[in-house]
Amino acid sequence: MNDRIITALDVDSPEEASSLLAALEAARIFKLGLQAWLRMGPVLADTLRQHGKELFLDLKFKDIPNTVAAAVRAVLPLSPRFLTIHLSGGGAMVRAAVEAAAGSNTTILGVTVLTSLSDADLAAMGGALSATDTVLRLCELGIKNHVSAVVCSAREIKPLRERFGRDLILVTPGIRPAAAAAGDQKRTMTPEEAMAAGADYLVIGRPITQAPDPALAFRRIQVAITPRRPHPTGSGGSSGLLR
Ligand code: C5P
Repeated sequence: MNDRIITALDVDSPEEASSLLAALEAARIFKLGLQAWLRMGPVLADTLRQHGKELFLDLKFKDIPNTVAAAVRAVLPLSPRFLTIHLSGGGAMVRAAVEAAAGSNTTILGVTVLTSLSDADLAAMGGALSATDTVLRLCELGIKNHVSAVVCSAREIKPLRERFGRDLILVTPGIRPAAAAAGDQKRTMTPEEAMAAGADYLVIGRPITQAPDPALAFRRIQVAITPRRPHPTGSGGSSGLLR
């Protein structure tokens, strides 16, 4: 099973979820975001568990510290492997979330800047920094408040690694295989580029879930990010089978 690709299960119905879970046997971690959570909530988390999958709960909490800490405690019984909060909620909120999850198996994952936002979007929102500088600033705030994992676009991996080193866990959405449509994502990279740049996990939704054959789309990405070993006969690898 693949641990590096996190499949975004952005679906509207239990039937859609079940058919993707059945097709994506090779996938281990599934991300539930607002779309699926608001329709199906903990029931879908149970379905994931029944399929032997791990839960990435992407509810992107951002509220006053007391409310966020209570929200973290409310979902901890589901044992999510990752739970997202917005780092832009400020240091006290971030610390409250990390403290609420302390002692559990859940990693609080700090969202830096949404991958759908460009420099121009940030400027229109009143930001004085570029997307990259905003990400660096928010990441610093997260680390000061004991966050060990952040969400960033693949384009920010290099500056983040340079500034904060190898230990920080980097989770990157906005991933698009060369042939896939970008949709609303703006700061994108291919899966192989993102892994080569130093991502720990790739979050991929529509390029897998809306592909005509989701299992094949997943497998192609898996092959693309798996380092190739030289073939014993020197005749190349087997990825041609997937074309
Ligand atoms: O379909 P697509 O591959 O664009 O899905 C990306 C997923 O990652 C979506 O569920 C989206 O909510 C999430 N995400 C993101 N950018 C962030 C954080 C999460 O695209 N910064």
